[in-house]
Amino acid sequence: LGASAASDEFARTSFLISAGGTHERLDPVRFLGNRSSGRQGVALAAEAAARGGDVTLLAANVAADVLAELPSSVTVVPVTSAEDLHREVMARLDRLDCLIMAAAVADYRPATSESAKMKKQGDAGLTLELVQNPDILKAAVEHKRPGQTIVGFAAETGDEHASALEHGLAKARSKGADLLAINQVGEASGFGDVPNHVVLVRPDGTRVAEGSGTKRETASVVLDAIATLRG
Ligand code: CTP
Ligand code: CA
Repeated sequence: LGASAASDEFARTSFLISAGGTHERLDPVRFLGNRSSGRQGVALAAEAAARGGDVTLLAANVAADVLAELPSSVTVVPVTSAEDLHREVMARLDRLDCLIMAAAVADYRPATSESAKMKKQGDAGLTLELVQNPDILKAAVEHKRPGQTIVGFAAETGDEHASALEHGLAKARSKGADLLAINQVGEASGFGDVPNHVVLVRPDGTRVAEGSGTKRETASVVLDAIATLRG
């Protein structure tokens, strides 16, 4: 395994890759967010560009030092919320060959966002009302045209109902993306700069590839699988 050398494998192939984690606004100074650094999406963008792809990265709150890993050929479009990301993906869907949804998209956002900073009310607690965000991956799959390749990422943990892989396989069926990269998240894997273990599955549950290693090595496994699918 290793980052591949510059090639023209993906010449004339346009990639749209989402990275990072969305922020859902509560008021001018507060949001609901998640801990995704954006490193996996950035590694995918760098690898796709190294293989000759024309790459746009939709960067949801990705720190400047993480974005600094990108070659200058990658176009970076910053986004904040799931609704921003949804809009930017849909606006570009017609023109792309390959969509990779590596961003951690918030499932919910506050039902209302305040224009002024929220104030404490006496000594009472606070109940927030949340509404569900659009499922961007699902919407992209529904609008997909022939020749496009759509890839999702799922970080799963095992629980009393099923193993991480079983949850991932169920998600692959329900999402219908061409590939779902199932990332088994444990105490020491998935978040931060520690080795990943990723299994790539098709919507029918077929396992097409598997790999462990750095985020760049994971990116390489994912792009190999995309190249194979696209023939
Ligand atoms: N995703 C998306 N839009 C959302 C939520 C998720 O496009 N509103 C994408 C993610 O970018 C990822 C894939 O869907 O590529 C799987 O995300 P995940 O959170 O694992 O799936 P969910 O359908 O949100 O299921 P869960 O209830 O397990 O969170
Ligand atoms: Ca989710």
